[in-house]
This record gives sequence, structure tokens and C-alpha cells, in this order.
Amino acid sequence: MPPKKPSSIPSKPGRNSKMSPEIKKKAVFLDRDGTIIEDRGHIGNPNEIRLFPETVPALRMLSNNYLLFIVTNQSGVAQNIITKKNVDDVNAKLLEILSECGISIEQVFVCPHGKDDGCVCRKPSPFFLRKAAKEHGIDISSSYMIGDHPSDIGTAISAGANAIYLLSGHGQKHMGELPENGFQILPEILSAAEWIVKKDEISKIYGSEYSRTVESAAEKLRDGGIGVMPTETVYGLAGNALSPDSAAKIFDLKKRPHFDPLIVHVASIQEIQSLAIEIPDAAMRLLRRYWPGPLTVVLKKSKVIPGIVSSGLDTVALRMPRHPIALDLIRKAGFPLAAPSANIFSMTSPTCVENLSPEIAAGSDFILDGGKCQFGIESSIVSFENPAEPVLLRPGSLPIEEISETAGISFKIHEDNGNGKILAPGLLKKHYSTATKFELAKYNRVISPEIRSRSAFISFDGADVPEGFLAVETLSITGDMREAAARLFDSMSKLDRMNLDFIFAGDAPQHGLGLAINDRLRKAAGKG
Ligand code: TXA
Ligand code: MG
Repeated sequence: MPPKKPSSIPSKPGRNSKMSPEIKKKAVFLDRDGTIIEDRGHIGNPNEIRLFPETVPALRMLSNNYLLFIVTNQSGVAQNIITKKNVDDVNAKLLEILSECGISIEQVFVCPHGKDDGCVCRKPSPFFLRKAAKEHGIDISSSYMIGDHPSDIGTAISAGANAIYLLSGHGQKHMGELPENGFQILPEILSAAEWIVKKDEISKIYGSEYSRTVESAAEKLRDGGIGVMPTETVYGLAGNALSPDSAAKIFDLKKRPHFDPLIVHVASIQEIQSLAIEIPDAAMRLLRRYWPGPLTVVLKKSKVIPGIVSSGLDTVALRMPRHPIALDLIRKAGFPLAAPSANIFSMTSPTCVENLSPEIAAGSDFILDGGKCQFGIESSIVSFENPAEPVLLRPGSLPIEEISETAGISFKIHEDNGNGKILAPGLLKKHYSTATKFELAKYNRVISPEIRSRSAFISFDGADVPEGFLAVETLSITGDMREAAARLFDSMSKLDRMNLDFIFAGDAPQHGLGLAINDRLRKAAGKG
């Protein structure tokens, strides 16, 4: 018997249908279970739909420039676990939920067949992608397929689309079945959406010059040079992590004291096998969940890490950045990159090339512009030097609450015990500072009108701004931590250029990313 016809639900015409024909040419094809909703195995009842918390912001972001489609294998139908009608009901409800959030899905493609049915439409077949391309006039080569199963990657590759593999859903479980290359691994749907938006931004900056530009930077690194690379947190000053000479150049240009070790950036988890000895299970769980992303782990180092990179410690800080340019650069260079933030020691970290100091710019062999950093605050650093007692060394872009939950352990928060031993010199009391005097508002209850008229105020959400300041920067009017963190260094740099007497700052709420924001404010004020 020939297999049942595959089905597709066209959704009501939505916002996307009004897009101009030119923009309409790009699409994102989304797997359903494990990608946009929790994979609960053969979902037959609309009440079982659980959207991931990242789904709505991700799809909103993508729908500005892409048509959205869902492409799903529902083999539970062929196995008589659920009916085709169950699947259609679930999909109809899902579209309704998304539409209430202002997200319109162009079409849902369902393959209801089993592995042995010999159908044309079961992923990894490119059938539905080709059909959508034909019917909607989509350019597949500038489109993406996102999913948490190797069959999603197979579909994308055979259709000629860009492939993103997610670690959510069953992603971690099936990692061993992936092809060797030709796709990007990312933690979850929101990081995938940000990745796609960033790739578009990069192609606007470089056009067809992109590969050549990154290749030329990689060549300078191979020749022992150092240069500025974007990451998703802040810009880094990068050099060959395996070369003591390159590392020395970084310390010199940054005017960084040699007791302050560098973070080593890699482009895959496998690479750390040769850089670290002993990778505790809890550390591995974190890497598998958050890499690439703003998490640095400190592990016992292997002999290949030069002493200058780790400042003579027997540990090394490792991180896999999530910025496409950083990953491309590391891969093209062919070695891991040591990269501290690209600022002069103790000054504010740059979150865009415009904020680079002239000295850093002049001393760099290349500068790769990657647009604004998505996070704007450095990575969170956790140390597994003593696996029995992991420590949060630096609060950063990944909230500690989240990290603890994934690792299934609680981290000791590092506190300066005053014995002068530096665990992570980012913990030095004065750091991330401005040339302008920087003060915390809470220690300065009375600020005279005269001083206010020559000073600025940085406020978390605008609620605590006293009258009379010459300039005010509100980090996020809606109190959104992510937005506030992303704007912090940029605001500090901007105010620093205004020749003011003082910059005063209010606090952020002391939880989630607020910990990292308050840490940077305290350090800028020398109250670390
Ligand atoms: O987001 C980031 O992590 C950025 C981007 C460029 O990747 N990098 C960054 O690097 O912030 P840097 O050098 O500015 O800060 C690295 C921090 C320093 O406080 C350093 O002391 C600490 O990491 N660190 C490096 N190696 C360490 C080690 N083996 N043990 C403890 N702390 C270490
Ligand atoms: Mg899936």
C-alpha cells in the first residue's frame, strides 16, 4: 500500500505574509518536539504542549526577516500510538498559542509515516523544504533548518540549507550520530535565533569579503601576531594560546600584570582534551549544555599550555565563544586563542569596535568587527580546580542559578579573604573602570547640585534617578536584565568620553544577571 499523503496545515495569513517579496525569500524551518516545545514523546493532546521559555522571543526575533515553517516527523501515527487527527489538533493549538504571541507560522509540514514506510517526506528527506521553496519562492541557501535530531541536520544538508543542531530536547543524547561537519551546534532555540541574526549582521558588514578577511586575520595569528576579535560577551585581544611570544604581546599591549592569567578560547569541546587533564563530570555537564556560550571553566591544565598564559598556575581557564567570527577565526587559525577582554588593564571592556581604545587599536595586527556584543558583559567563570568544591570565580553573562541547576551542584561564591592570594584577578578590587571618577550612588547620599550638574548617573531601570544630573543612562527601562547587562559597558564608555566630574551608578536587583552587573559597578568604583 502506498503511504498516506503527507500533510500540511497552512496557517491564517499573518504578519509575515505582508512582507515584501524580496524579504520573503528566506525561511527558517523548525523541528517541533525538542526544538520549540518540550519533547514529551508522541504528543497527542493539545494540553501536553509546553513551549520552551526561549521559544517566543526566538521566533519573534526570527520573524522580522524570515518566514517560519514547522517540519515534524510524527512516527507515533504509523505506530498507532496517536492518530493523525491528534497530531493536527496539537499543531492547530500550537499555532494558536504562537499567534497569540504575535508569531505567525507559514505552514506546518507533518510526516506521519514510519521508518520502513518508504515515504518521500520523512526527515532527513529534503522533501518539505523543497516543496516550501517552490511554493513560497524561498532561497534555500540563505535559509536555515533548526532541530534537536540528526535527521534535522540531514534534511538541511540535503536540501542545501544552513543547519543548526540544538542541545535542547534529545540533542545531547544523539550527538554521537551527527555528521562530522556542515552544521552549527547551539544550546537552544534563542541562541539559534541570535546566531542567525548575527550571521546576517556579519554579511552586511563584510559582504563577499568575509572569508578572505577572517583568513587574513588567521594568517596574522599564525605569524605570531595578535588582534581584536568579537565574542558574544565582549571583544577579545586574541593570540595563539600555545605560543609564549604571542601571549607576551597580549600582556604588553593590554598593560596587564603577568600574575593575571588569560582565558583560552576553543572551537569545540573535543579540543579541551589536550589542554586540560581531569574533566570532572559536573564540568562536562556544563560544557555540553552551555558551549558555545558565555561560560568559562577553570580546570587542571596540561603541559601544552605555556606558563605565561596561566600565570604559573597549574590550572587553565577554557571557554568556547558563541560568536560566529570568533569560532571561524579559531578554526581557521588551527590553534586555541588566548583572549582577554580587549581593554587596557583595569579599564572598561569594549562591546563594539567603536569603544576600542586607540592604543589597543594601534597595537593590533587586525581588528575584526563583529557588531555589538549580544551579552555585553564577560563570561561567568567557574573553577573545578577542586572538583569536590566548585567555585564561582566571576559572576558573568550566565546566571549562577542556571549554572547550578544544570550542574546539579551548588557553587561556592568566591569571596576575597584578604590574604592577597588571587584566584581570578578579575576579582581585583578596582577593575572595569572609567577614567572619570566612578562612584556608587548608595555611598553618596548627598550629592550637591553643583556636582550633579557636572556628573552623570547610570540607572538600572530609571526608577532611582535623582534630579539635576547632566547626563543619565538608563540600562533598561523595562528592567530587563539581559538588556541592562548588554548596555552597561557601552554606557560607561559613552559617559567616560564626556569629560565629567563623576559618574554615579545605582544598583541592579541582586539576583540573576544583576549579580554580574553589580559586580562590575562595584569594581569600577574600586569597592570590589
Ligand atoms: O567573556 C570573556 O570571558 C572575555 C571574552 C573576550 O572571552 N574574556 C575575558 O578575559 O573576560 P579577561 O582576561 O579579561 O578575564 C579573564 C579572567 C581574569 O579575571 C583571570 O584572572 C581569570 O579569568 N582567569 C584566567 N585563568 C584563570 C585561572 N587559571 N584560574 C583562575 N582565574 C583565571
Ligand atoms: Mg526534535
